[in-house]
Amino acid sequence: MSNICKQASLCGGCALIKVPYEEQLKQKVSAVAKLLEPFYTQNIKVNPSVLTKYYRNKIELSFTHQVVHKEPLNKKIKRDKSEPLEFEDVLGFRQMGRWDRSVNLTDCFLFNQNLTWFIYKINLWAKNKNISFYDQRKHTGVLRTLMMRQSFNEKGGMLVFISQAPFDTEGLVEVCHQVYPEYSVLTAINDGLSDASPIKDLKVLSGSATMQEALLVDDKKIVFTLSPQSFFQTNTKTANLMYQIVRNAVKEIEPETLYDLYGGAGSFSLTNADLVKKSFCVECVPEAVENGRQNAALNNIKNVDFICQTTEDFLAQNKIESKNSLIILDPARAGVHPRACELLAGSGVKNILYISCNPKTLAENLAVLTKNYKVKKVQCFDFFPNTKHIETFAELELL
Ligand SMILES: C[S@@+](CC[C@H](N)C(=O)[O-])C[C@H]1O[C@@H](n2cnc3c(N)ncnc32)[C@H](O)[C@@H]1O
Repeated sequence: MSNICKQASLCGGCALIKVPYEEQLKQKVSAVAKLLEPFYTQNIKVNPSVLTKYYRNKIELSFTHQVVHKEPLNKKIKRDKSEPLEFEDVLGFRQMGRWDRSVNLTDCFLFNQNLTWFIYKINLWAKNKNISFYDQRKHTGVLRTLMMRQSFNEKGGMLVFISQAPFDTEGLVEVCHQVYPEYSVLTAINDGLSDASPIKDLKVLSGSATMQEALLVDDKKIVFTLSPQSFFQTNTKTANLMYQIVRNAVKEIEPETLYDLYGGAGSFSLTNADLVKKSFCVECVPEAVENGRQNAALNNIKNVDFICQTTEDFLAQNKIESKNSLIILDPARAGVHPRACELLAGSGVKNILYISCNPKTLAENLAVLTKNYKVKKVQCFDFFPNTKHIETFAELELL
């Protein structure tokens, strides 16, 4: 099987797919090294992705439009601009460099081998039912986003059809189960201007409102219940390696208290619960916090407090116990809020473990944290093969 999918030139899903994998790793780690150079000059190890095909446990496809090409897809042939472009409805990933168009996926190595067959069936179902696709420019149309999640270490997955307004779902579950018989089918509304706006009115058409995934650390299996809104690292197999390596670092540090900031559904608190006396998992999405509490109960873990608050408010309102504590930071791409970063820099906690999906904001935060901390070790994990993104794990120690 070729490593390059048929849509590689048009689809924005995998910008580096034409670059050989070893070269991708080199390019990504050298970009990280350059950004972190003011704080860390040693060699940075990169842990490759365990899988480079079908590695994602979650994707979000857009119901939108693509141009109907009447001529061959050859940029050298000039289009007659006096003729208006024609568009057709399409469910797929965004076209490279476009926020308002998608690509019809007839080939894709991101999720699983049934994806393109499934997309074909959903396109057909929507067309037969005459349900319109969302127009990003005009904010018209009904079907908007399809969130697909699959479990790697447990069973099943979920399909969440997010629309601008309610739609006729008759026959939808049957079509979904022809391809994914074990997946739950849900609908939700996003009537905001952005595709990233929070969803509401979640309805279960079939199965359950949550799905299960598991992490395996030191031969222990930690099971996670996840809602559509809950974050979980998208590359389960490589993330599992990262959780194990973070756990190894926690074992060496031997803290009594763990502050798991940007905690999601509790991944770090739960995979390290047996190594500490007490853990505080701070997360601002209520559904993720609720999942965290369920996950603790599911795994019979009793020493984690789940706190629904922003990290910046938590740090402003609570005194961090500096003695025998460890802080784990795992923020979203925006990095740690500057106010929180100043408080962390002055926290007096001996060790901070920082897991980052954006080396640019990691570098900005390190500029503040390194007033009082030195960067002891940095390594990368390739959670995102064929894209320019990479995960970085930095271990910090009080000066
Ligand atoms: C990269 S995820 C990490 C989640 C978790 N640590 C894990 O390993 O699955 C970042 C998390 O931070 C949460 N978040 C974003 N901004 C936040 C803030 N200001 N305070 C607390 N949590 C926040 C997000 O909802 C998300 O769950």
